[in-house]
Amino acid sequence: MKFEKNILCIGAGYVGGPTMAMIAYKCPQYKVTVVDINPERIAQWNSSTLPIYEPGLDEIVKVTRGKNLFFSTDIEKAIRENEIIFVSVNTPTKSFGAGAGMAADLQYWEKTARQIREHSTSHKIIVEKSTFPVKTAFAMERILTSTHNGIIFDVVSNPEFLAEGTAVKDLENPDRVLIGSRETVSGLKARDELVEIFAKWVPRDRIITSNIWSSELSKLVANAFLAQRVSSINSFTPLCEKSDADIKEVARAVGMDPRVGDKFLNAGIGFGGSCFKKDILSLVYMCRQYGLDEVADYWEAVVKINEYQKERFVLNMLHAMFNTLAGKKVCLFGFAFKANTGDTRESPAIFVARRLLEEKVNLVITDPKALNNAKNDLKGFETGITFIEDPYKAASGCDAIAVVTEWDMYAGLDFEKIYDSMAKPAFIFDGRNILDHKKLYETGFNVFPTGKPALTHF
Ligand code: UDX
Ligand code: ADP
Repeated sequence: MKFEKNILCIGAGYVGGPTMAMIAYKCPQYKVTVVDINPERIAQWNSSTLPIYEPGLDEIVKVTRGKNLFFSTDIEKAIRENEIIFVSVNTPTKSFGAGAGMAADLQYWEKTARQIREHSTSHKIIVEKSTFPVKTAFAMERILTSTHNGIIFDVVSNPEFLAEGTAVKDLENPDRVLIGSRETVSGLKARDELVEIFAKWVPRDRIITSNIWSSELSKLVANAFLAQRVSSINSFTPLCEKSDADIKEVARAVGMDPRVGDKFLNAGIGFGGSCFKKDILSLVYMCRQYGLDEVADYWEAVVKINEYQKERFVLNMLHAMFNTLAGKKVCLFGFAFKANTGDTRESPAIFVARRLLEEKVNLVITDPKALNNAKNDLKGFETGITFIEDPYKAASGCDAIAVVTEWDMYAGLDFEKIYDSMAKPAFIFDGRNILDHKKLYETGFNVFPTGKPALTHF
C-alpha cells in the first residue's frame, strides 16, 4: 500500500511512543515508524506488554501496529525511507563536566543529528519533539548542513505538552499544538507539512505557529509555570500546619479567582516526573550562561521549595514518631511520581525511601504499577525493603503508612481492617491529602495530612 506521508520518530519513550501511536491512529493514510537504539524497548512495543503503562494506549496500539504503525531498531534504513523525522530522544540533566547537575545533556540528540546527516539521501524535515534548550535548532542545523552534500534539512520545533497518566487524552484533545519554524520559504513549507498532519484531528484554532526560538522556549516556560504553581501552594503548607489553617480550603478560596484558576493547586509531597526539575534546572543554567542571575535565582527557588517539601515530609514523620524511626516498619503507599503511571523518574518516593532507610526503617513498598521501576531505583538498597503489591498485606504489621502517590484505590481501602493489622500506635502521613482524615482518626490512627492540622490521640 502506498502511504501519503512517511513519518519517522527516533526515540520510543514516554513521549515518542504514545505521540506516534496517536498520529498513526488518527491518520491511517500515513505510515508511522518508531525506532530506538534499545532493542528491548522495541521488542516490548512489538509485544502484548508495552514498555509504558498509559490508560488507553494499549487499545490504539492494537489497532494500528502492523498496519500503519511500526516499531524497529533499523534506524539507518528508517532515516533513508522517511521524509519527516521527529526526534524524541532523552535530554536528561548532565551528570558530568561543565553544568553537571544543571544543564541538559545533549549527547543523545547530537548523535541522532549526526546519524540523520550520514544516512539521508534526500530532503528531510527534522522535528524537535524532545524538550531542548533554546537555540538547539541552530546547533542541529549546523551539524546537519556541515558536510555540504546539497541535501536540504528543515528543522522545526514541535514541543510535546502531554502529561503522563493522561497522555492519550492529551494527545487526542490537546489544548494546543505548537509548531515553531524558520521564517524562510522552506521553513514555512516544513511548518505547513506539520500543520497538515495535526489538522487531521486537532481543530485548526488550536494549532499555533511561532518562530522557532519562541517554540523551544515556550515548552520550558510552560513547565516552569506549572512547577511554580505546585511549589507555590506547597510553600504555604508549613504555615498552614503551624497556624491551624487548611491548605485545601485556602487553595479553593484562592483558585476561585479566574485570574488564578483552580487547577494544579494540589498541595502534597512535592512534584516529580522527568520534566519539571530537569527543565527548570536547564532554564536556570541557560539564564546564568547569559548572565541573568536574578532570573536564574527566581526559578531555582521553585526547585529548592520542592526539595524542602520532600525533606519536611520525612522530618515530620521522624518528629511525630517520637524522634526515632530505627527498626520501625513503614509502608509507602505508592511509588510512581503521580497516579495512573508506572513511571518513577524523579518520584518523591525515591527520596523518601532513601531517607527512611538512612533512619534505619524497615521499608515496605506497594504500588499497583511501579514496583518494577521501584526495584530498579532502589538497587543497592535492597536490604531492609520488601515490595508487596497488595496494600493490605503491605501495611500489615507496620507502624506507619506514608501516602506518596495519589492512586484512587487508596481512598477506597478498608482502613479499619488495615488499622487492626498494624502495630500501635499507628500513624498515617498523607503526602497527597487523598484520605478521609477525620474517619482515620476516629478509627484510631494518628493522622498527619499535608498543610492541615494533625489529628492525634496524644
Ligand atoms: C508535565 C506537564 O504537565 C506536561 O505538560 C509536560 O509535557 C511534561 O511535564 P507530567 O510530569 O507528566 O507532565 O505530570 P504532571 O501532571 O504535570 O505532574 C507533575 C508532578 O507534579 C507530579 O509529581 C504531580 O503529582 C505533581 N503535582 C501536580 C502536584 O503535586 N500538585 C498538583 O496540583 C499538580
Ligand atoms: P521521554 O520521556 O522524553 O520520551 P525516554 O527516556 O522515555 O524519554 O525516551 C527516550 C528514548 O530515546 C529511549 O528509549 C532511548 O533509548 C532513545 N534514544 C536515546 N538516544 C537514541 C539514539 N541515538 N537513537 C535512537 N534512540 C535513542
